[in-house]
Amino acid sequence: RIWRMAKQPVRVLVTGAAGQIGYALVPMIARGVMLGPDQPVILHMLDIAPAAEALNGVKMELVDAAFPLLKGVVATTDVVEACTEVNIAVMVGGFPRKEGMERKDVMSKNVAIYKSQASALEKHAAANCKVLVVANPANTNALILKEFAPSIPEKNISCLTRLDHNRALGQISERLNVPVSDVKNVIIWGNHSSTQYPDVNHASVKTPAGVKPVRELVANDEWLHGEFITTVQQRGAAIIKARKLSSALSAASSACDHIRDWVLGTPEGTWVSMGVYSDGSYNVPAGLIYSFPVTCRSGEWTIVQGLPIDELSRKKLDLTAEELTEEKELAYSCLS
Ligand code: NAD
Ligand code: LMR
Repeated sequence: RIWRMAKQPVRVLVTGAAGQIGYALVPMIARGVMLGPDQPVILHMLDIAPAAEALNGVKMELVDAAFPLLKGVVATTDVVEACTEVNIAVMVGGFPRKEGMERKDVMSKNVAIYKSQASALEKHAAANCKVLVVANPANTNALILKEFAPSIPEKNISCLTRLDHNRALGQISERLNVPVSDVKNVIIWGNHSSTQYPDVNHASVKTPAGVKPVRELVANDEWLHGEFITTVQQRGAAIIKARKLSSALSAASSACDHIRDWVLGTPEGTWVSMGVYSDGSYNVPAGLIYSFPVTCRSGEWTIVQGLPIDELSRKKLDLTAEELTEEKELAYSCLS
């Protein structure tokens, strides 16, 4: 009889865990959706004092659900306790935009939060902790976190654009009436905002007659250049309009996809979109957190290189980079 050594638990931090995404996300993590069905986890949940009671309620539900993989729960309003020894940090907590608030007011609140949480992670997280920022403005919050946690390798800090990537897959699947699992290699370039560029120029679909380019199967450039792009760009707003709340189950599920592929690897021949620190690839300014097509192996992402970029795409890549540069400047002006 062969005995396999049980895996050591991985500590996963979720900030803003008493919120809507948190409520959808923590059971997914506890069930193995993020790290696999044989990976035990210890959940660290952080929220702020006004949400402490609700956070404790979530902890009670996690206990009640008796998840076999869940080896412990830390529910706290103390950022140091929350960050201590975590291997993965999913940053969902943040200050929402309220009526009458200017962009700069929201930015200033979130910059302050991400600056202080960066220091806590830098001092107390496990070496090689991987960070995913979900809270908006996701790319710029991630950039601030990177700037104020200089000892965390920049390769370990990312933001969520996998939801936009999955939305693009979903739109192609609906349009062609094919299973979403047969569509691959869309790309989200740039910001998790309405300037993002959902690109299908390199996307393909598995069909009984072989693998075909999405462009050939859709055969309608007007839709691909128009409604497809705006639907994906505006999907977050459409969900808010319909639910009176922002997307939660899809955001939580996509956050699991992001970490799972980063840690366990992307399937052969497939790339995904991640917001990562730009090294200047595709002439995107270095020093922004920008969404690129990436493949992952052995816990490391690599930007897919050499994809041809046509003129129309070039303009869209530049436009979303310009918005990120402005956000970066605004964020820095909030710090001074
Ligand atoms: P929510 O308001 O329901 O929850 C946010 C939680 O964060 C609250 O419980 C709040 O108390 C907590 N919080 C506030 N400040 C905090 C701090 N300093 N430390 C820890 N926790 C703090 O919001 P939600 O619907 O769960 O969304 C969370 C964020 O994710 C928002 O910024 C939203 O815009 C963003 N979002 C991003 C994506 C994406 O794809 N990147 C998708 C959907 C939503
Ligand atoms: C989304 O894409 O669903 C969210 O980022 C929308 C939002 O503003 O919270």
